[in-house]
Amino acid sequence: MKTVSFFCLLLLITAHLPGQNPASPMPRIINENGRHTLLVDGTPFFILGGQAHNSSAWPAILPEVWQAAEKLHLNTLELPIYWEQIEPQAGQFDFSLVDTLLTQARAHKVRLVLLWFGTWKNGSNHYMPEWMKRDAAKYPNIVGEKGDWIDSPSPHSEAAQQADTKAFTAIMHYLKNADPRHTVIMVQVENEPGAWGSVRDYSPAAQKLFESPVPAQLLTAGVLDQLPHEASKGSWREVFGKHADEYFHAWSVASYIGKVAAAGKKEYALPMYINAALRDPLSNPSPNTYESGGATDNVLAIYKAAAPAIDILAPDIYLSGNEKVLKVLELYGRSDNPLFVPETIPSRVHAKYIYSVLARGGIGFSPFGIDDNGRDSPDSVIAARLAAVGQEYRTLAPMMRELAKWAFEGKITSVVEDEDHGQQTIDLGSWQAIVKFGGFGRGDGLPPNPQPAGKMMIVRLSKDKFIAIGTHSRITFKPVGKDSGRPWQYLKVEEGHFENGMFKPLRILNGDETDWGGPYFGNKPQVLQIALTLR
Ligand code: DGJ
Repeated sequence: MKTVSFFCLLLLITAHLPGQNPASPMPRIINENGRHTLLVDGTPFFILGGQAHNSSAWPAILPEVWQAAEKLHLNTLELPIYWEQIEPQAGQFDFSLVDTLLTQARAHKVRLVLLWFGTWKNGSNHYMPEWMKRDAAKYPNIVGEKGDWIDSPSPHSEAAQQADTKAFTAIMHYLKNADPRHTVIMVQVENEPGAWGSVRDYSPAAQKLFESPVPAQLLTAGVLDQLPHEASKGSWREVFGKHADEYFHAWSVASYIGKVAAAGKKEYALPMYINAALRDPLSNPSPNTYESGGATDNVLAIYKAAAPAIDILAPDIYLSGNEKVLKVLELYGRSDNPLFVPETIPSRVHAKYIYSVLARGGIGFSPFGIDDNGRDSPDSVIAARLAAVGQEYRTLAPMMRELAKWAFEGKITSVVEDEDHGQQTIDLGSWQAIVKFGGFGRGDGLPPNPQPAGKMMIVRLSKDKFIAIGTHSRITFKPVGKDSGRPWQYLKVEEGHFENGMFKPLRILNGDETDWGGPYFGNKPQVLQIALTLR
């Protein structure tokens, strides 16, 4: 009896050695009370990511990509895999590139998110293999309202959907055997699906479906409550009125991808997501002005109903300005949708939103286009592109597991500098943190930051003890609630970094470093452990 227990224990232990055992736990997303985390090797993981340019996942360009990945200090690289390369002839698969990506990622000790450039890429069919492009009758595009040719594949083509399912399933099957260490932690299914240039497909086949009853999956209270509607059953026009065309296309595209993803997941159940080209989140624009049928904020309920195998609907954030960007984070971080930003502008200003994603309990963040794209740019140009996010990742990477756990537990709050550079506050229970943004100086007379790139993230360790991480800002505190107005002081302010899950102080900040309006955070992100006391 004792011997059996011992062996069971041994099995359990070896099954959880990260990256060493074929039985290492599958990456997966868990949801507890509407909060999410991505488990990698069995524990919370935050994707400090970077995405290569579209045509960079080729052996000739990969050295440039790895150079950028190193400079960025990322832990996860997002790389496309191309249908046209993987299935050059119908039914003949070539996974040599997948092998190359796996081998190189392991050598660099980096995880991968693979991006399946399948039926849709930026709303078009451009990554379909040649044998499909040559057969437009079998693999058609959608048709515009006036019968015009639209550069977007039809979600109503059974042949295309079956071909995509076959290829995607083959990839997932291959990965299952080739990647027992789970170097690949997530897969993006298609790329920014939907259509530019037409709100939906007006082909005769699509028109017939459009005039048919709305499918039952959309007619539940849970879904209808999230969508403006005029009736609870009937044709698309009867139920959804002026939104019918867009909702029909969203349903059609999401159902197609949902089938592809479900088949792939049955083979190998990695977390899967769809990325979205966004619409303006504030102005409720007309669907003619954005990519219709994609997972835009107004159709998330349709995507959830049509594609349950997809874990995340993820916003590609190329918008600017706090009002818009923070609204996008609010719209996509839902109790039924983990927050993940798979693409954004690699700028100093956009880097601040890593803090917003963490504070909203998100699972990852990734700038797009990290490599030089074969352009042989001067080193200074490359360094400038990677500097802002690189210095963030460099600071956050050693404490990534802690951050992921705190994000999951809802212990992180953050503020990011507004365009008017105004001060902001953070509610910490019995304390309020006051964050001012600006350059060096004493007290209030801070010169403004040249760009609104300042940020502050605070982790509540206990009632009076915090970790604060920030740049371009100054922080101070005041007691609130029953102790409001009472005198207080810093018990200890330590600057340091995390190592093996522990805060390692480098020095105690005191005197000029804390006396004149609170600790100052400069250009380089600093990690402070701050203890406060009432007097
Ligand atoms: C969004 C797409 O998803 C990416 O693949 C890339 O095309 C970017 N746009 C930037 O061009």
